[in-house]
Order: sequence, then structure tokens, then C-alpha cells
Amino acid sequence: MDAIHIRGGNALFGETRIQGSKNAVLPVMAAALLIKDISIIENCPRISDVYHMQNLLTQIGCRVSRADRTLMIDARHVSQDKMSGESVTGMRSSIMLLGAMLGRFGEATLAYPGGCVIGKRPIDLHLNALRKMGVSIKEEEGAFTARAKQLCGAVITLPFASVGATENVILAAVNARGVTVLKNAAKEPEITALCRFLQKAGAVIEGVGGSVLIIQGGSALHGVQFAVPADRIVAGTYLFSVLGTGGHIFLKDAPVSQMKGMLKTAVEMGAEVTASREGLSVLAGPVKKTVPYIKTDVFPGFPTDMQSPLMAVLAKASGTSIIEETIFENRFRIVEELVKMGADIKTDENRAVITGVTKLYGCEVTARELRGGAGLVIAGCMAEGETIVRNRHFIERGYEDICRDYQNLGVNIVTG
Ligand code: EPZ
Repeated sequence: MDAIHIRGGNALFGETRIQGSKNAVLPVMAAALLIKDISIIENCPRISDVYHMQNLLTQIGCRVSRADRTLMIDARHVSQDKMSGESVTGMRSSIMLLGAMLGRFGEATLAYPGGCVIGKRPIDLHLNALRKMGVSIKEEEGAFTARAKQLCGAVITLPFASVGATENVILAAVNARGVTVLKNAAKEPEITALCRFLQKAGAVIEGVGGSVLIIQGGSALHGVQFAVPADRIVAGTYLFSVLGTGGHIFLKDAPVSQMKGMLKTAVEMGAEVTASREGLSVLAGPVKKTVPYIKTDVFPGFPTDMQSPLMAVLAKASGTSIIEETIFENRFRIVEELVKMGADIKTDENRAVITGVTKLYGCEVTARELRGGAGLVIAGCMAEGETIVRNRHFIERGYEDICRDYQNLGVNIVTG
């Protein structure tokens, strides 16, 4: 069955290791296509989005192999090909190949990546930025072909600091002729990881970590060995879990420096957090304080990917909270499921008002997307009795083995 069974109501105690970052490894895998050499990517999480990306790269002619969490991508002999099938329409990260394919082949034909339940997921910012680099876009039914005789460096200002659009501009700019100045670039840690990978391969990129990136195109790129940073959203999921249940956990390898926004909220809610070189220790009592108002924002603000996990915790916090979702237009799908468990949550457009209740009750709930599904698992840990979370496959897109991790933290949880 495509489900997770949780018997909740207990505090969390134990230690679990945080996997490599989904949202860092996907652009790095795309960047490997730019390199006519062999790249080794370490700490690669075993998640379905990575398997999909492996499939796409193989379709283009890369030789991709993996040993446990180490991926080898040999992009010496690749051919331009039209990608098709579920891999392209079934996930977002295919759009990340756009910039890399333009950089390698000067052309790319892709299906419009599927939107999803959290939003329409348009790609206008990607396409408009690439047009400024000399790319022409020809729309076809449900797909498009992007072409550039010669990618040219340009001065580009993103109207919104889009993570994906930033990644595509970087991937196209590295092989462009001349310099690209990207203003209002996204500053998420995943952008930094991509830039560090490319710099290690020989790319010349300045301003890494800031909102203005300067990419000197045309450097010869060589194969690299690169370790993907730990996943801040997976670490944040377990951070908020212990806030919901109470207890004391240790998150090995947690990328603490990337978690400031969510750690600030956790401390406001009463958590005691201790960072060390090895990871993050979190101690939380059974009753947590609420946060009156929280707004999701681009990095280093509170991450939108942590909004559903936080909502699950606030469902049992003492007091009323307001969450304002400013990044995606439909990211409250978890609400109807939490209400089934006894939560008191009302939504109005992009605002949710959560009035904490004393108990949540286990029942059968349905995950509609990745982070909402993770939020339901947290609610299951907090609820009395058994919770069954359907559509485990959504969660497996981003969590290597959420049951293993929660079992390490003392939760009675199994797949079913
Ligand atoms: C990345 O998505 C992440 N995905 C998302 O994580 C994350 O939530 C998001 O960044 C924000 O941090 C990956 O890295 C694979 P955006 P992305 O472009 O690049 C609008 C998860 O759970 N927009 O910053 O798609 C868009 O509709 C996933 O791991 C346009 O309007 O995010 C959205 O409202 C979910 N036009 C907002 O910008 C565009 O051309 C943020 O999108 C592009 C985006």
C-alpha cells in the first residue's frame, strides 16, 4: 500500500542523520551535463526525484551510475534528444535541464513541466531571462523548443528572486560568450551549492550567496568530486516534529547555518537548540508557545517548504497563530486533512488562522504533495491513536526514508 502508519502521542528521543539536499543535488546533476568529463557527486539522497533526474540525463546520453549515495555522471558523450515521458512532465526539475542543455547543445525541447497542487508553477521568468541571452523560444503543443546559435552574456534583473530561474540563468551563463550579471538572484543555499560545484569545475562566478551574481562565461570545465550539503528542509521537518511532540533529539549533519529562519521560530515556540560541528540538538517541552504571525519568504526568511510542517505543530500550540504564504498560491492543502484530525484552522486566500487545540486524533488522511505529506506525518506523531497517511509516494520525492528517520527518533511508524 502507498501509505504510512503512525501510532502517535509519544515524545521523540534519539538521533537521526540528515540526508543530502534534494533541492541542491538536482541543479548540480543538471550542471554535470555542462562538463565533458566525469563528475562524482557524494551524499546524494536516494529519493525518487533524483532517480527521475538520472533517467533524464541517461536519455540525453550521459552514463550515470551510483554506489549507495555516490553518483557518477559521465557526460563526455551525449546527444541532443527530445526528452519525453513521465520523467519530464512528472516533476519540476526537468526544467532545470533547460539551462544546461542550452549551454551544452544550444538547443532544448522540453514539455512544459507539470504544475502541481501548490501552484501553477509557470516558467515565464526562466524564459524571459534566457531570451535576454539570445535564446529563441518556439512554443509547440504542450512543449517548447529553446534555441541559441550563441548564448551571450547579458545584464538580467529577475522581477522575483525565483530559485529555478536563477539556476537556469547560471547554467546557461557558464558557457555563454561574455559576462552575465544576474540581479535579484535567489539566495537560497541551493544556489550557493550549485555555484560552488561549478566553481570547482572551473567556472568563474562572483557574488556567491548574494543577490547579484557575476558569471564569466566560456571557462573550460573539468570533472569534479563534490559533496552535496545536508537537506535543510528535512532537518527542519524533524526540528518541528519534536516541537510538536516534545522530547530531545539530535540531528546529525544538520546544516545549521542554513536554518536560521526556522531556528528563530522554533526558539520563539520554546525549543532549546544547541548547534555543534556534528549537528543540532533540540529539546522541547510538551506544551509549545505559539507564534502570533509568521510569513513565508525567500531566503533567509521563513521557508515556504517549512510552512506545512509548522502548521501541523501550531495546530496543538497554546493560542492562535496566523500563517501568511507569500511564495505559492495554493499551499494550504494540508488544512482539510489536519481539520479531519481535530485541528481548528480557517483559511482566507493566502492566510491561515490556526487556533491551537489540546488534542489531535489519529485517522486516515491523504497527502496531496511533498511537504504537506511531511506535515501530516508530524501531525500523526502528535495525535492520539493511529494515523494513516495515504500517498506516501509524494513524501518519497524528497525524504529518503522518513519511516527510518522517525523510528530512529523513537516513533512507532511503519510503511503500509
Ligand atoms: C524551488 O522551486 C524548490 N524546488 C521548491 O521546493 C521551493 O519551494 C521553491 O524553490 C521556493 O524556495 C526545487 O528546488 C526543485 P521559484 P521553484 O521559482 O524553483 C513563481 C519542495 O518542496 N514563479 O522560486 O519552482 C512560482 O509560481 C519544492 O522541495 C513564476 O511566477 O521556485 C512561485 O509562486 C516545492 N514564474 C514562486 O515564483 C517563474 O518563471 C517561487 O518559485 C518561476 C517561478
